[in-house]
Amino acid sequence: MASENPEHLPGSRWRRRHLLGLQELEKEEIAFLLDAADEITRCLEAGQDLPSLRGLTAVNLFIEPSTRTRVSFELAAKRLGASVLEIDQESSSIRKGETLKDTARNLEAMGADFLVLRHSAAGAAHFLADRVRSSVINAGDGAHEHPTQGLLDLLTIRRRLGRIEGVRVAIVGDILHSRVARSDIWGLRKLGAEVALVGPRTLLPEVFARFGVRLSNEFDPVLPWAQVMILLRIQHERQREGMFPSLGEYVSLYGLSEARLRRCPPEVLLMHPGPIERGVEIESELADGSSSVILDQVKSGVAVRMAIFAQLARFHQRDGEGV
Ligand code: CP
Repeated sequence: MASENPEHLPGSRWRRRHLLGLQELEKEEIAFLLDAADEITRCLEAGQDLPSLRGLTAVNLFIEPSTRTRVSFELAAKRLGASVLEIDQESSSIRKGETLKDTARNLEAMGADFLVLRHSAAGAAHFLADRVRSSVINAGDGAHEHPTQGLLDLLTIRRRLGRIEGVRVAIVGDILHSRVARSDIWGLRKLGAEVALVGPRTLLPEVFARFGVRLSNEFDPVLPWAQVMILLRIQHERQREGMFPSLGEYVSLYGLSEARLRRCPPEVLLMHPGPIERGVEIESELADGSSSVILDQVKSGVAVRMAIFAQLARFHQRDGEGV
């Protein structure tokens, strides 16, 4: 792992050069980033000064499709005054056979202070962090981690319920292929939430029990228990073979319907990282209904990413500039 400082004291200044995953963060560091995102939101709403990233450059290096994450990193960097460059698989020389490391080293040579990386390979962000001095931010690496999604999910729950500790959260669907599930599990467990994972046996390996979570192949018994329901898309693109007999059967067993919602606590929060496959993991009307906080998640994501840029910026301050 690159350039990590072992000091993670609460209230101290942020010490990490990169944001790679929630697995390696201490509980206090996660809480610190959530507090920083709340503070940024407060400043935005009060029209107060924000940390300045003027003179710094962020490169969004997205070698997999994205809407929410890519745009919110772009918005976050621009709102703090950084320059932002967008690179995707189609427009980069990776298509011509250039390695990820060479691409990153070239971007760094042109002055990239932040490399925001989305990649299909688990470990890609850690790999780059060991090879560049730019701050690497993991925007999703294969089925490994999606730490900023984990943070914005935590922030959304904390804002709605006032706490994470003791909150009962069900994560439902394609757990096997989900980096969001992994980051959510790390973050939720570290902050003291109870977590149940729900899905068919083929998409919910027993190994997840090691994370201190409850596993269930049945959705219905979990419904009255869950205060928060995080619904996941089936990642057809990552499945090498059919993982269940038919989509219809999956929907009947694991889709959130109006009838199932009626069996949940009345104040249950419905969450989804997006993109939603309407009518599969959730009925379309429920995704837009009064229990849904899906767009709150998206909104929280901009503040979380601004907070991360602001903390990592201290590694790239230049004379007369910076936070
Ligand atoms: N939640 C999420 O990662 O969405 P995108 O793939 O659109 O970025």
